[in-house]
Amino acid sequence: MESKFKRILYGGDYNPNQWSREIWEKDMEYFKDARINSATINVFSWAKLQPSEEEYNFAELDDIVDMLSKEGYDIVLATSTASMPAWLFRKYPEVARTDYQGRHHKFGQRHNACPNSAIYQKYAKALVEQLAGRYAQNEHVTCWHINNEYGGECYCENCEKAFRVWLKKKYQSISALNRAWNLEFWGHTVYDWDEIVLPNLLGDGMENGISTSFAGLSIDYRRFMSDSLLGNYKMERDIIRAYDKDATITTNLMGTYKWLDYFKWAKEMDIVSWDNYPGYNTPWSYTAMRHDLMRGLKDAPFMLMEQTPSQQNWQPYNSLKKPGQMRAQSYQTIAHGADTIQFFQLRRSVGGCEKFHGAVIAHVGTNDTRVFREVKQLGEELERLGTATLGSVNEAQAGILFDWDNYWALEYTSGPTKDLTYVNQIYQYYNFFYEKNIAVNMIPFDADFSKYKVVVAPVLYMVKEGMQEALTEFVKNGGILITTFMSGIVDQSDNVYLGGYPGPLRELAGVWVEEIDALAPEQTNTITFHDGTKIPCSMLCDLMHVEGARCLAEYSTDFYAGTPAITKNQFGKGSTYYIGTNMNSDGIAKVLEMAMAEAGVASVIDEATELEITCRKADTCAYYFVMNFKEKELAVPSCFVGYTDAITGENIKSGDTMAKFDVKIIPVAY
Ligand code: GLA
Ligand code: ZN
Repeated sequence: MESKFKRILYGGDYNPNQWSREIWEKDMEYFKDARINSATINVFSWAKLQPSEEEYNFAELDDIVDMLSKEGYDIVLATSTASMPAWLFRKYPEVARTDYQGRHHKFGQRHNACPNSAIYQKYAKALVEQLAGRYAQNEHVTCWHINNEYGGECYCENCEKAFRVWLKKKYQSISALNRAWNLEFWGHTVYDWDEIVLPNLLGDGMENGISTSFAGLSIDYRRFMSDSLLGNYKMERDIIRAYDKDATITTNLMGTYKWLDYFKWAKEMDIVSWDNYPGYNTPWSYTAMRHDLMRGLKDAPFMLMEQTPSQQNWQPYNSLKKPGQMRAQSYQTIAHGADTIQFFQLRRSVGGCEKFHGAVIAHVGTNDTRVFREVKQLGEELERLGTATLGSVNEAQAGILFDWDNYWALEYTSGPTKDLTYVNQIYQYYNFFYEKNIAVNMIPFDADFSKYKVVVAPVLYMVKEGMQEALTEFVKNGGILITTFMSGIVDQSDNVYLGGYPGPLRELAGVWVEEIDALAPEQTNTITFHDGTKIPCSMLCDLMHVEGARCLAEYSTDFYAGTPAITKNQFGKGSTYYIGTNMNSDGIAKVLEMAMAEAGVASVIDEATELEITCRKADTCAYYFVMNFKEKELAVPSCFVGYTDAITGENIKSGDTMAKFDVKIIPVAY
């Protein structure tokens, strides 16, 4: 696949506007030394670019762009619309958001424009017109970065009106809407579009901000908000596109961020970019999953727009990255499909709430720091690696279904348990693939399933239009489907499929789930596989009857002891595994191993190892990324002996080992 870039972009957020000119000069020297070749600029400069309604001033930005252009940087140019100037709030209070509690906000913070404010749109548009007109032809502007980390929600009157328009388009008639949201329940029937109230705390939203009395309404509001913000993105994108039809345009996403349907967003983006901020105790496999999700959005290489070279400031505990950790984290990012490594930020700010946020240049102001040396080492290595890995692809025969409608719907349910969360369930299944080094793609509900041998669809609570047919086709033609409890329950409006769970998946799974038991944290059950293996299970237990499926494991206790907990159903040329309860990782591995063996899906290398290994395929060779995230030394798998590590140029010998955070990139010709 052709990369969007001619080299690995190595750099990050840079705010010279916060510093004096002498410091700019010094920065250029330091950055060159660290092999930094890219800078993301102008992320929060609206107030400077437009001091008042009538006047723009691009003098400083011109100087910054000139300086970086002369130095041969790849400029990632942001549009500054994520933080509005104070005068705009003062003159037009409607640009601010109204929150879930119904409070209308004032000037302050960022990422807080009402997406449906025509005034916000007008002024953002005008600013982007100016920027695009001025810089779109600059050949050093490699990429446009629209806004910043879109997110959040607004519950103002403008949004309410826009929501009604959005609903009218979707449902056409008020009776269709009443049906979709099942408004007969609690006598909420509406007779006029203007009777529709948005679901915040003053309406149908509940105290904790996550529950709702009408999930159909709240899910639609989430879809509407995601679309509204996406509308803002598209507005800016279209302006830039008009000035440069070949521009690469993106906005920085946030991994498993809940409230935007990123699969929908990605369709409008030229390349996905995202900000990776694991906590001190985030498992490496969890970060890997997020990378795979971000790659999966377009099934293509992505940009790492932000990571900290050292510390963060906004986590509860902002631990230092240990020596070698930033480097290993960066390679893991490339291993999962990144074509860029960018930091937030290049120079640590002097004031404001991010003054303790790590940076390439710390407050001491020199390059004589551990962090700088590590940044430089990585810069040199990436420079040597050159263009080799750019555009290479991560292929997989297994896919895990990830769907934002399901994310929202599952977590809006009242009952059967409060402990069920979407991403955790997905992660438990992802982790199996990670531990085994089996390549896996994160795929949308409307993916082409025929590209995969195995599709895992954990907690597929909402089965949307077309999915039953697509999954049936997939299994009929030989695919292996793995699904679980809380699947096939509702349609896209959150109304239950009547006639027995798992609704549209019942025939495929060959089971009927009659009841769902919820276990409190102190309660557990056990399931027994037919080889005698016992696995503890918790949280939810489906009570089911087989209807053609074969039982693989039964519950051991409670009044449903001896009834099926895990089943397998032959269907056409394929089969469906149904996992009726929440198992630990051993239980998941046991079922998934059976499924992988049946499907013939193997690890990226044959040898078992505790190293993390991925494979990116380029035109003439495959790049194996071999990484040690364990606390101990591990042997390099023998299949790599005799090959060369592309980072060091050294030959790999039998008996070689890797210490914690060691990385090798091993090209293997086809
Ligand atoms: C986000 C933002 C940045 C910065 C970092 C700090 O990713 O995009 O502007 O605030 O967080 O971690
Ligand atoms: Zn609003």
